[in-house]
Amino acid sequence: MRLALLAGLLGVLLFSRARQDVIGQQTEPLRWIEAGAGGTLPAEMYFHNADGKLGVLLTGGPLEMKGHAFFEPQGINPRGCVTCHQPSNAMSVSVEAIRERWRVTNGEDPIFAAVDGSNNPKLPQALASSHSLLLNRGLFRVGLPWPPADKTVKPEFIIEVVRDPTGVNLDDTYGLKGANPTISVFRRPRLSANLKYVLSPDDVFNIKTGTLMAIDPETGKPASMNMMADARHLTLRQQANGAYRDHQEGRQGSLRREALEQIVAFEQQVYLAQSHDRWGGSLVEANGPLGLGPRALADGKIHVLANNNRDPVFRLFDAWKTPATMAKELTDAQREFRAPVARGNDVFMFRQFWIRDAAHINSIGLGNPIKRTCATCHNTQMTGQDLAPGWVDVGTVNYPTWTELPVFSDKAELPVFKLTCDKGAAPHPYLGRVIYTNDPGRALITGKCTDIGSIVMGQFRGLAARAPYFSNGSAKNLRELVDFYDRRFDMKLTEQEKVDLVNFLSVL
Ligand code: HEC
Ligand code: HEC
Repeated sequence: MRLALLAGLLGVLLFSRARQDVIGQQTEPLRWIEAGAGGTLPAEMYFHNADGKLGVLLTGGPLEMKGHAFFEPQGINPRGCVTCHQPSNAMSVSVEAIRERWRVTNGEDPIFAAVDGSNNPKLPQALASSHSLLLNRGLFRVGLPWPPADKTVKPEFIIEVVRDPTGVNLDDTYGLKGANPTISVFRRPRLSANLKYVLSPDDVFNIKTGTLMAIDPETGKPASMNMMADARHLTLRQQANGAYRDHQEGRQGSLRREALEQIVAFEQQVYLAQSHDRWGGSLVEANGPLGLGPRALADGKIHVLANNNRDPVFRLFDAWKTPATMAKELTDAQREFRAPVARGNDVFMFRQFWIRDAAHINSIGLGNPIKRTCATCHNTQMTGQDLAPGWVDVGTVNYPTWTELPVFSDKAELPVFKLTCDKGAAPHPYLGRVIYTNDPGRALITGKCTDIGSIVMGQFRGLAARAPYFSNGSAKNLRELVDFYDRRFDMKLTEQEKVDLVNFLSVL
């Protein structure tokens, strides 16, 4: 107990020191924001991370957090939206920050709330082991009704729980056999920032399914279907009400009207990106690459298909290719950093490899395999998402997952489900009718066999501030992410290409 108190005090001391950290001309604002603590968020913020600094802009100017619905608890637990969407962590939350909260609060921070901040609400909550998925991988429990809440959906498969390391899926209250049958998957928080890109709709037709796009009930226009790992919410209002019920344990069905409007208005004015590099210095310079830094995100055009060399996904890096075209005042160290980053952009945009057996890419008429690049899937300018609805089975959750231990390993941390498809249903294009997975992804919403393991790709910005990566937190750092792709698509990347790609991703 006394030790904990001491640790707490030390934490407070460390925190108040961090507050006075001076960045350029500006003071670093509060690193960890507690729901309900009040204070002012400046219109422009910079936060240190291992690779440099993250820049966050509020286009509506400074914001008073006292009484603001994004920053105050709304449900019965003391969490705000900010609890899991922290400006210093690129409006997500990193494992590093989560572990620090565990240390500083002795496991009592509201982020660890039993409902979804633990492996299973019935485990003894004071033990770190009961929160291992959150502490080790940054994962929150997402409980989804099965069969789907939408009664017009007729599931094409049955689900069995074959491994349940947390006990929650076989639990008689929370599990598949409970009064409200539920499948619990474990997922990373996605960025509540740069959302104008995420929400920009593609077309009336959905090329992933060959059917009409879902309609945004608020505008009557097609929705982007690019939000959440499974695109289950079409609008920010639906999403916020869902977060209120699931993460904040709100009991009113939906948020109060004013609270909802305040949250949605705030979410639409947050823009972020890495702004400084540890070695490379400021990433935003006259005549430098146009896609870097938070201002570029705030000002950028939405809905630009950018899988081409004229106006690529993260804009051109030509200015950083040779010393002659770089800004004159740079130091040698800064120059040395810029060329590899520019090469990393070329690997991302132009290094071809065989994309094979990826459902919703190879299965939609493009051919299997196809020789293309990272930007074929990650084709939206500024965020690297997919302009079309971005769900793809790239091999992060279905077995063989390319990241996890074998299905029946005793050391597996994630649940494993066995999905068996009806004989009459169109099978998963590459895995057939019996599929083992730790997250059925989009299929939990559509009930379709072809969607099993398809996860909506998230945006690439602020990566340095929010490890680990992929919706199941399976890549601890950017090197692991790059190694995953090298294995998955047998890319045969050279060591140099890998390093360049990691450097490139770390400045976004
Ligand atoms: C306990 C942690 C937690 C809290 C509290 C929380 N979220 Fe989230 N948020 C998540 C997780 C986890 C996801 C991803 C879930 C998924 O993909 O199924 C997410 C996803 C999102 C997304 C989707 C972003 C994208 O591009 O897909 C938005 C927007 C968002 N949250 C906003 C909010 C708002 C608004 C609130 C408060 C009403 C809130 N969140 C409260 C954990 C949290
Ligand atoms: C076949 C389509 C496809 C290709 C090709 C592809 N990706 Fe992805 N990428 C995805 C999907 C789907 C996700 C989301 C997976 C998940 O979260 O489980 C993703 C996620 C990511 C993320 C986001 C991680 C996060 O958690 O925010 C990064 C970064 C990324 N990919 C980089 C790359 C790089 C670099 C390449 C090329 C070496 C590449 N991708 C090639 C489909 C693809």
